[in-house]
Amino acid sequence: MKSAFVVLAALAALTAYYVYLPLPSTVSDPWQLMALDATFRTAQHLCNLIHYMRLSHHLRALNYMIGAIDKLEPPSQGHLKITDTLFDGVEVRVFEPATEQGEALRRSVVYIHGGGWALTSAKSSLYNNLCRTVAESLNAVVVSVDYRLVPDVHFPEQFHDAVRATKYFLRSDVLAKYSVDPDRIAISGDSAGGNLAAAVSQQLSQDENVTNKLKLQALIYPVLQPLDFNTPSYQQNMDMPVLSRFVMVKFWIDYLNGNYDFAYSMLINNHTSLDASQATYFRERMNWTSLLPLTLQKNYKPVIQTAGMPEIVQEMPALLDVRAAPLLAKKAVLQLLPKTYILACENDVLRDDAMMYAKRLEDADVEVTLDYFEDCFHG
Ligand SMILES: *[C@@H]1O[C@H](CO)[C@@H](O)[C@H](O)[C@H]1NC(C)=O
Ligand SMILES: *[C@@H]1O[C@H](CO)[C@@H](O)[C@H](O)[C@H]1NC(C)=O
Ligand SMILES: *[C@@H]1O[C@H](CO)[C@@H](O)[C@H](O)[C@H]1NC(C)=O
Repeated sequence: MKSAFVVLAALAALTAYYVYLPLPSTVSDPWQLMALDATFRTAQHLCNLIHYMRLSHHLRALNYMIGAIDKLEPPSQGHLKITDTLFDGVEVRVFEPATEQGEALRRSVVYIHGGGWALTSAKSSLYNNLCRTVAESLNAVVVSVDYRLVPDVHFPEQFHDAVRATKYFLRSDVLAKYSVDPDRIAISGDSAGGNLAAAVSQQLSQDENVTNKLKLQALIYPVLQPLDFNTPSYQQNMDMPVLSRFVMVKFWIDYLNGNYDFAYSMLINNHTSLDASQATYFRERMNWTSLLPLTLQKNYKPVIQTAGMPEIVQEMPALLDVRAAPLLAKKAVLQLLPKTYILACENDVLRDDAMMYAKRLEDADVEVTLDYFEDCFHG
């Protein structure tokens, strides 16, 4: 009896140790976040083991587990018409509010889901229910893009899928079919989906063949650059659940089809050292000592290596490709972009990606609405 008690107490202590995280006092719902993080960490450890044993790619295994958890939450019901179809060969799920006879043309949102270019889908309960809510509350047609994922494809395929589906939808005949007003179309996405939404906006605003333009982009804690993993928010939140700095670096390596051996070098910005001249050139466009307000810079110092590993950018040239890293676009491109909404969270490695993009867009005379949540975290 006594020994059972000791074992139980030890187990409880171990569990508490595993689950408990010191979190900033500003985080709302800390226990919910800790539980989510412990679940996600356990799943990731298991998937790394599966990967190590060569049973499956760790992200494929993780996506499978997330899918299984997602099924516990049933898709919500309502009065929308939901159709799975193909837009120029790309899978999409379209949410249409019921139309009334003689009703004016509707507004529309192209939505690109997050998940590190590797996880979940438009058909998951999570994103299905989100897009349903958006469609119902805006009385808008929502096109949720099911682009192909890592490890089946890597950059630039995810980007191409998102461009192709959006471009097809923007055709006048397709908009007419869905009774959509060509002057009221937004694009939106969260996290890696925010990365794709930002990249698609840049691409389409420069494409003279696209006559129906996007009216608005809405980016929710977007991923925008892989050159500096030591922005103040990366330094401050490097161990923050649900997205640690190391996990984000690995998502980038997977997206750009690079080598995991580079991860530790990239953590200390060895890939954008001063002897990697091309990378240094691009880093000037995301110089956070001038782009971020001092209140966010706090006492963090830029991490710039004099001698590093220029071979990383040579092996992963996509690190410098603006279609992967929209924050690196030149001002002349930013000037063409539509009105922009950006959401950023304090307790998120990606906070400064969003903040720097907002500042660069403002400097390019784009109308920007920035929502900054001090008590929120990624995901
Ligand atoms: C626009 O269309 C023309 C003719 O189809 C094509 O040659 C050109 O590459 C297109 N431009 C872009 C930016 O796709
Ligand atoms: C970044 O901005 C600061 C302050 O404006 C400036 O002193 C510094 O030289 C800039 N660094 C780069 C790499 O452009
Ligand atoms: C960073 O680069 C320097 C210079 O090549 C090298 O000595 C160091 O080991 C590298 N650090 C990591 C973590 O890759």
